[in-house]
Amino acid sequence: MKLVLASGNAGKLRELSALLSPLGYELVAQSSLGIDTPPETGATFTENALLKARHAAAISGFPALADDSGIEVDALGGRPGVHSARYAGENATDTENLEKLLAELRGVPPERRTARYQCVIVLARSGNDAHPLIAQGTWEGRILEAPRGTGGFGYDPIFLPHGLQLTAAELPAAEKNARSHRGLALQALVEKIRAQGP
Ligand code: IMP
Repeated sequence: MKLVLASGNAGKLRELSALLSPLGYELVAQSSLGIDTPPETGATFTENALLKARHAAAISGFPALADDSGIEVDALGGRPGVHSARYAGENATDTENLEKLLAELRGVPPERRTARYQCVIVLARSGNDAHPLIAQGTWEGRILEAPRGTGGFGYDPIFLPHGLQLTAAELPAAEKNARSHRGLALQALVEKIRAQGP
């Protein structure tokens, strides 16, 4: 079954395709259909995921999947949170965002550098789906003082998941997908799809 992914993020397309293709879903990037991301005006991950999924479903006529995610750093009162993608500015790169976070945490000791990735995934069957499926996942860890690894994307080189010695950017992709906020949210969503039918 064809699902439109309401995101232009290549890292997310790669991770979600790896998780969904074994289940028979073909993920199509909304950009390949000429669909843009609407302004993410929501105050929460859930609001933003809902508005992105409904927008893509309304324009494409296909069911649409959207995720909204980010990293919450305890020493920063939960920032950057929903603003993670544009922490260092509207068109900031992953490296600029990561460097801003490291600068803000300079001098903060390891035990106070706790953080978590959050992800909410929404499946909207149409633009006015009154009962979209919503699932959530969390991945706990802490922020290192310098980047390590080249895999993943975003803040992965400075995110050390609890209980692991490798950063999210050093983990093999399959291992990240099995443990991550996005992987857990998607597993929960797949359970809901199975229970209710797509
Ligand atoms: P959005 O969900 O498109 O609003 O963007 C989420 C942002 O959070 C990304 O651009 C990254 O900065 C960050 N983020 C979310 N998930 C991950 C991840 O798995 N690894 C690294 N950074 C992530």
